[in-house]
Amino acid sequence: MNNIVSIPNAVGYDTAEIIKKDKAHFLHPWLVFDVFKDKGSLPLARAEGAFVYDTDGKQYLDGAAGLWCTNIGAGRKEMAEAIAEQICIMEYASTFTDITNVPATLLGEKLAEIAPGNLNRIIYSTGGSTAMESACRLIQYYQRCRGKPEKRHLISRKSGYHGTTYLAISISGDKNHTPEFEYKSDTIHQLSCPNVFRPPEGMEGLSEDELTTALVKEFQDKVDELGADNVAAFFAEPIMGAGGVIPPPRDYLKQIWEICKDNDILYVSDEVITAFGRLGHWFASLDEFEVQPDIITSAKGITSGYIPLGATLFTEEIYKVISEPGHGRYFAHGFTYAGHPVACIAALKNIEIMERENLLDYVKTDIGPYFEEQLHTLRDLPIVGDVRGKRMMMCVELVKDQKTLERFPAELDIGSYVAKETYARGLILRGFMDYNIMSPPLILTKKDVDFIVKTLRESIEAALQSLKKDGLL
Ligand SMILES: Cc1ncc(COP(=O)(O)O)c(C=O)c1O
Repeated sequence: MNNIVSIPNAVGYDTAEIIKKDKAHFLHPWLVFDVFKDKGSLPLARAEGAFVYDTDGKQYLDGAAGLWCTNIGAGRKEMAEAIAEQICIMEYASTFTDITNVPATLLGEKLAEIAPGNLNRIIYSTGGSTAMESACRLIQYYQRCRGKPEKRHLISRKSGYHGTTYLAISISGDKNHTPEFEYKSDTIHQLSCPNVFRPPEGMEGLSEDELTTALVKEFQDKVDELGADNVAAFFAEPIMGAGGVIPPPRDYLKQIWEICKDNDILYVSDEVITAFGRLGHWFASLDEFEVQPDIITSAKGITSGYIPLGATLFTEEIYKVISEPGHGRYFAHGFTYAGHPVACIAALKNIEIMERENLLDYVKTDIGPYFEEQLHTLRDLPIVGDVRGKRMMMCVELVKDQKTLERFPAELDIGSYVAKETYARGLILRGFMDYNIMSPPLILTKKDVDFIVKTLRESIEAALQSLKKDGLL
């Protein structure tokens, strides 16, 4: 017991000391070294509902839900109790080969029940990137098992984001690629970002339906160029998240899916953000976009961030092929923490809470539409170029000129310029590039929405004033 560090209960922190230790040791994900050196990071100490508190006790509405994940909100005692109870019953069990555990089994049954179609089979992992890595491995395995080893090319989209393990980041849009890392590119092909607000080069000035036609043609052309017999899978987030909350043009995903079906190409829907209620559904692919994927990756909202967990769901058809008897095959992939009993019990309790509180309907018919509607009122501000997204996944894109849609200089980082103002006013959102991205917990009240919209308005107005003062507008 002597080794256990005692952590004060969110009061009495020495903030300067925490920041100093953080700077001394913690290499944060996606850290920008120069900015971090000067500004450090915001040290959070406590969370409750839709709010978080820093080490000085200042309250923030968490408009980012952590990182698109704290769907049921923080501080749920019954989550803590379920997790603690499971730790007491059995804190860990290997699931390699021939051992299983009760929570992993029950969660598997539940996921199969709420997933669309016959996505009855699950590979458990520890997060979104690993769920994607498992999807990639499964695809390779499946294509080889069925005697189609030449089907190894993968198609994704620029500005997509699928995680940071080697394959997941290689499939992610090349905007995420930096020269200091290597990326796999020989079998990965990236198509245009399906952005209605800023259409890809050569597709400007098209109507939404024409844009869909152009993007679908681009996909078909790529399949033809590679040869359908060489294409294994297509990857897409239903709504791109980290790429700037990009809802697809009307019918685009469905038409691509139909081409996938016709050409024996697996359709992988990355629902790491969109599943578990963010768009008002357990999974958005079928319910929102009329696509029945062969594989769905999920993480984040599956446990509302209480404990890390990833899940790759796939069809009976795939399972039938890979498990065909008589080959003596084994699936040489999987993690020590696959089906971790504590993570699985957390997911089961999280789903139970969402069902009991009717959170999907709340997002679909009540708070989601209200959030969208209220954010659209910001369009009168002279640097708001676009307000887009769906339900609890929204983005305000900032522009220097509303008429020409000219961007602010990249080095200004207008997204974080405005976010600095929202932080000062007690609102956390994700501000980077031209974006202010919001993905709050699903338990948000209308009063909370009003606070977000009012605070963002005041913050954009304050940013406008200082941009003018500094001669940047
Ligand atoms: C769509 C999508 N896929 C995958 C990931 C990677 O998830 P993780 O960070 O849990 O590895 C993310 C993370 O934000 C994501 O947004």
